[in-house]
Amino acid sequence: MAFSISQSGLVSTKRLNLCPAVPRVLPLPQFAKAKVVNGDVSIKRPLRVSSVAKFGSLESRTLNPKFKISCRAQEGDQARPLDPEIDQVPKSEAAQKLKIGIYFATWWALNVVFNIYNKKVLNAFPYPWLTSTLSLAVGSLIMLLSWATRIAETPKTDLEFWKNLFPVAVAHTIGHVAATVSMSKVAVSFTHIIKSGEPAFSVLVSRFLLGESFPVPVYLSLIPIIGGCALAAVTELNFNMIGFMGAMISNLAFVFRNIFSKRGMTGKSVSGMNYYACLSMLSLVILTPFAIAMEGPQMWAAGWQEAVSQIGPNFVWWVAAQSIFYHLYNQVSYMSLDQISPLTFSIGNTMKRISVIVSSIIIFRTPVQPVNALGAAIAVLGTFIYSQAKQ
Ligand code: 3PG
Repeated sequence: MAFSISQSGLVSTKRLNLCPAVPRVLPLPQFAKAKVVNGDVSIKRPLRVSSVAKFGSLESRTLNPKFKISCRAQEGDQARPLDPEIDQVPKSEAAQKLKIGIYFATWWALNVVFNIYNKKVLNAFPYPWLTSTLSLAVGSLIMLLSWATRIAETPKTDLEFWKNLFPVAVAHTIGHVAATVSMSKVAVSFTHIIKSGEPAFSVLVSRFLLGESFPVPVYLSLIPIIGGCALAAVTELNFNMIGFMGAMISNLAFVFRNIFSKRGMTGKSVSGMNYYACLSMLSLVILTPFAIAMEGPQMWAAGWQEAVSQIGPNFVWWVAAQSIFYHLYNQVSYMSLDQISPLTFSIGNTMKRISVIVSSIIIFRTPVQPVNALGAAIAVLGTFIYSQAKQ
């Protein structure tokens, strides 16, 4: 127990973490509390302190010979909590906010870099199945090395864990490859505009497949999301049906991934970072045979030579960058998901799309018509309204 006492004999609540509605300075008798060290007693008379100027700090000071009372008093103006727990809540809250802020900023920055290198690679080497496989392979390798060198703690998993992870990995694989196919056909900004429609898929799947119902404002928020995406799609200068469908399939797959992930991560014993590492490895195993079937080593070898002849030896660094940044941004996003609610996560994801759309339009000089930009803005605004309506 600790409290601050000013020279006027008032207890200052300045640093006591009481309800903010409580006045800062209150008459001492109402708030004077004492910890009884020996014996189960209560104070009969209010504790009166005429002057505490010389007290400084009192520890286990006996005010009445019958009772031993532990009281810590300080000058109000220079009040410093003697009990470290007093300041712990606001400090840890501030630290948590700062930590999440850093996670979000890192996640968006890594995602922007990934999208830029991914598109550069796909422009020179239009093999999205191999590109997707490489991002998973490099991520898996990074994590295996981290475990081997004990940079990261090796997760303790069992068969049950991998069984639960399987549907998540199937959905992650489909969502990842579909988004990469989309980006190989259309502008990065267009893929992300369509991907900002993910909440609409989430509501529709939850409503019609899981029987969940939502408040009316949530359904209404789907109007700007769907309307904005539709407007952006019909006014897209370089529209491509495969690119559009890839982004739509990715939305649907990621809704299932999030539903299964939520179930799989509940009560889990592995951290967000390791959960994503295991997800990457399982997705790699699932995707590799399909990538070989869809494209195959012969096409890859010819395409690689072509890309290197166009870009030069630096091409390999572009591939490395897109793979490493893919893993890092996903890892950070799962680490964030570990700390925040799915709702805060989805708001963060929408903000991420804005940064990707804007930066990719600038970097790739994507031609944008005003009406197309309006569609994108309406869709993104709709996802914000959705986030608020879901609260
Ligand atoms: C991918 O390749 O998996 C997608 O680019 C992922 O997109 P998202 O994480 O922004 O939904």
